[in-house]
Amino acid sequence: MLRKQSRRLRSRRRVRGHIEELERRALMAASFLNGVEWRSIDGTGNASTDPNNPAFRRGAAETQQIRFGYGTDFPDLFGDAIITDSSTPKSRENPRTISNVIHAQNGSVPDKRLLTDWVFQWGQFITHDVDLTRTGAQFNVLSDDVTVGDFRIKIEDPNDPLYNVNNPYIPFNRSQFDPTTGDNTDVPAPFPPGSFKKNNREVINAITSYIDASMVYGSNDERADALRTFKNGKLLTTAGGKLPSFNTPGLENDNAIGLPADKLFLAGDLRANEQVNLTAVHALFVREHNRLADLIKKNYKTMNDEEIYQMARRIVGAEMQIITYEEYLPAVMGFDHAPDPDGGAYNPATNASITNAFAHAFFRFGHSQISDSTLLVNNAGKVVDNLTIAEAFFNPDFLKNNPGNVDLMMKDWRRRSGRRTTYSWSMGSATRSSALLARAASIWRRSTSIAAATTGYPTTTRCGSCMASRLERFCSR
Ligand code: HEM
Repeated sequence: MLRKQSRRLRSRRRVRGHIEELERRALMAASFLNGVEWRSIDGTGNASTDPNNPAFRRGAAETQQIRFGYGTDFPDLFGDAIITDSSTPKSRENPRTISNVIHAQNGSVPDKRLLTDWVFQWGQFITHDVDLTRTGAQFNVLSDDVTVGDFRIKIEDPNDPLYNVNNPYIPFNRSQFDPTTGDNTDVPAPFPPGSFKKNNREVINAITSYIDASMVYGSNDERADALRTFKNGKLLTTAGGKLPSFNTPGLENDNAIGLPADKLFLAGDLRANEQVNLTAVHALFVREHNRLADLIKKNYKTMNDEEIYQMARRIVGAEMQIITYEEYLPAVMGFDHAPDPDGGAYNPATNASITNAFAHAFFRFGHSQISDSTLLVNNAGKVVDNLTIAEAFFNPDFLKNNPGNVDLMMKDWRRRSGRRTTYSWSMGSATRSSALLARAASIWRRSTSIAAATTGYPTTTRCGSCMASRLERFCSR
């Protein structure tokens, strides 16, 4: 289809309500309730409902991430993905040196396309829907307890702000991997048929790979249950419904500064307290779930708790897909590059698991977009306070002490432009290559199983303010 025509169709589509459209495309789910299909919490049963079929667990929590490329794609031997240490082979440049050369900048660089802080905040939030890779020093150890490799990154420049003469290293842990992988045996390769590959170390995704709002509801039953009231389909809240509940059950939660477990919020994803802008989006979607639950209860009086919960959950999942595909991806990639959700349909043959490259390289581009502070803006548009990113880390009290801060922060994200950081690497020079953009789009399609046949990628990103202005959440205009 001609691109102009496709754009016309897209803009026309944008003015109608389209929850129904994405629902039609929604992924198959695993369980039925009164004949209606819901997604499983852990992502199983998507491509196949037969637990004996390997496809049953595709894209589910605690399964392997897909690895792009094996030995032959990495002639310098890093692609063997068995167990090597970072000093082998020695031909590679020091990562800190590369980072300092490529990313060096003084202060925030304004975003030329007038995109707002919603862009980075949605990026982080949606990351926490699709991948979580656990790390730990223990993962540098082989199953027979032999410690291998030293993955600390040496800081070579004594003028580097992180340089410490007694310990010039950045600590670096490897990812959790499937213990049945990472040895030197030969195992069947996915292609060509009949071929073999080394048993590459395969990394685990701890959460579901689908855009299914697992950061709101959890990726396992224990967490999902701990978040529910089991009354009228609602999720637990604090502050009169304004904030998520606290982690009184003591479930796994990121806790970088050692706060008591019950002082941290509990959400579907364990990173919810990582910085308070993120926590605010969690608060928003808990409120949204409960708003929908009230609406459903009012309109479908015979529905029980489970039915209301599942229906609200299903709609929230669809909202996540719509915001991501209709607004976020066009905002960051441009309409011409972003995967077109209308060009796709559910394809059970697509492996929707997150790829290693997506989680550990490509989608971390968002780290270069993070703003250094958030302003608190009242209804009159007046700035009443300022929160630096340093103050935002693991600061649940900021919302607990004043739940209204959620609203004040969001007014800033929506309104403020001109303080965006650049897309330092992946959205800048690197992905201006059409091949990489094609790959990025293909990763997105794969990650939600929308197997669209998008055609043609031009070589420059074209998403000026005229385009961005339609992307309500993400544009400051
Ligand atoms: C203030 C905002 C953010 C903070 C503080 C933050 C912090 C972190 C940290 C500490 C990690 C774990 C690093 C590791 O051990 O490997 C991480 C991982 C990651 N981040 Fe961010 N991040 C932020 C925003 C973003 C944004 C905007 C995006 C994308 C648009 C993003 C994408 C990712 C991805 C894909 C991972 C890997 C997730 C996994 O599979 O474990 N982050 N981030």
